[in-house]
Amino acid sequence: MKFFIDSADVNEIKELASYGLLDGVTTNPSLIAKSGRDFKEVIAEICQIVEGPVSAEVAATDYENMVREGEILSQIAKNVCIKLPLTLDGLKACKYFSNKGVQTNLTLCFSSGQAILAAKAGATFVSPFVGRLDDIDFDGLSLIEEICEIYGNYPEFRTEVLVASIRNPLHITQSARIGADVATIPAKVLKQLVSHPLTDRGLENFSKDWAATGQKIN
Ligand code: G3P
Repeated sequence: MKFFIDSADVNEIKELASYGLLDGVTTNPSLIAKSGRDFKEVIAEICQIVEGPVSAEVAATDYENMVREGEILSQIAKNVCIKLPLTLDGLKACKYFSNKGVQTNLTLCFSSGQAILAAKAGATFVSPFVGRLDDIDFDGLSLIEEICEIYGNYPEFRTEVLVASIRNPLHITQSARIGADVATIPAKVLKQLVSHPLTDRGLENFSKDWAATGQKIN
């Protein structure tokens, strides 16, 4: 399973990349707004930190302007992945970029029908939003299950399932059990994934016992 970070905070991305855990980055207009920084500048910096795909989302909602903006974004670096909304125009723009060999991420996916269309448009990634479905009392992980099952029926579908809108560690582990290809994770949740009280307690005891031996490793 690949781990992407869902962030436009360059320092946060640098820190997590330093642990060797990052396979890519996803951003969205809300995360860019939160960073308070220039969009293209941020994407350029992130692309230097991480070798894998960096999703940069178009702002336009019509085909012509999505293509125009996507062309500009794809020139920032070769690992820019053009993020497009899962609409008819977004699908058309996805087909345009996939024909050109540019990576694409179809976002705001809330149904398996949309995911089938994403695969047919040749998307590199489709992003189903689990957290936002949970928020409206629909089991987000059941959508991941459904999409993975459908894609598994059609080996010609090459689109990777990128689980987005992740809110807790269970979203990650359950997506991994289902066999999703990628999880895009907020930094806070990635840190929650490593933390376990028994690890902390065990480490505390080992450190105490080691100190009592008076030895040093050198
Ligand atoms: O980048 C898309 C997605 O991960 C957004 O998450 O928490 O705003 O629903 P959230």
